Amino acid sequence: MNDQYGRKIDYMRVSITDRCNLRCFYCMPNRIQLVNHSDILPYEELLRICKVAIKLGIKKFKVTGGEPLVRKDCIKFIGKLKALPTVEQVTLTTNGTLLESYFDELCESGIDAINISIDTTDGELYNQITGSSKYDVSKIIDMIPILIERGIRVKINAVILAETLENALALASIAEQHPVDIRFIELMPIGEGEKIKNVSAKELLRIIQNRYPDLHKVKEKRGNGPAHYYGAKRLLGCLGVIDAVSNSFCSKCNRVRLTSSGQLKPCLCYDDSVDLRKLIREGVSDDMLLQVMEKSIYQKPRQHKFIEKNVSENKLMSQIGG
Ligand code: 5AD
Ligand code: SF4
Repeated sequence: MNDQYGRKIDYMRVSITDRCNLRCFYCMPNRIQLVNHSDILPYEELLRICKVAIKLGIKKFKVTGGEPLVRKDCIKFIGKLKALPTVEQVTLTTNGTLLESYFDELCESGIDAINISIDTTDGELYNQITGSSKYDVSKIIDMIPILIERGIRVKINAVILAETLENALALASIAEQHPVDIRFIELMPIGEGEKIKNVSAKELLRIIQNRYPDLHKVKEKRGNGPAHYYGAKRLLGCLGVIDAVSNSFCSKCNRVRLTSSGQLKPCLCYDDSVDLRKLIREGVSDDMLLQVMEKSIYQKPRQHKFIEKNVSENKLMSQIGG
């Protein structure tokens, strides 16, 4: 469906849990208040909302978290979502730490693509950033060709941090070895991100341009998101930047979000949301649910106010799902 500004909304990010096995310092504080288990939507309720969303024109779903793979039966949920009529694409955003354990099941689920969040290839720095020494980032990177071989498209998402700038070229060079896109994302002032100084995508681009002098903008559309993509002779994949803060791409926004506790969020920046869980638990009919969701999507705000740091959303990114 179209919203009040004529934007076609066909993409929904569905957070299935606010839990995560990592503690990235910009995302989840150590003493985090987790959502009560009873407030997290069961898969049947999530699927019910997704079916209504499909009636409203949503064709692509991103399953996200927290870390979606820490929730039991995540992959069964992906399979069910993918099997719904008219669904064109189901993709997953994951930190990658559990991909190896669920590899076969995941390949059979029908998943179209996976975004893996890796901010650095430096093992020690990775452990520092993620607040955990349990995982070896090189093992996660090793999963990339294995996933590609099974026909699953892979992208890497890296938040641009002052700490990781030095390592940005090492991360970018993964796209020299494998046909994957590496996307560098500006840290948004949401949750913990509000307390951290943001590094601009321009600064990151300068570093990349030095290394790849023939870097050029890629014209064809890649993915569902707002990234600008660049190619170079030496690269098998593209390098992307998502300048979510310094350049508002809101006029092309195609998405809404569902939090793990069932709040439909039309825009990342604002805390306006509709409590679908409450409605469902009060016994709302499908027709009514459709009307409420339609109204919320229609009223999606025109744009975010990240530059002014005028953010009314006070949830953590782990509760929203990025
Ligand atoms: N700004 C931008 N990206 C963020 N992520 C978490 N917090 C922020 C933030 N404040 C990213 C994670 C992951 C995705 C789900 O969201 O690194 O890639
Ligand atoms: Fe977990 Fe992703 Fe947040 Fe890191 S950024 S704590 S991996 S949800």
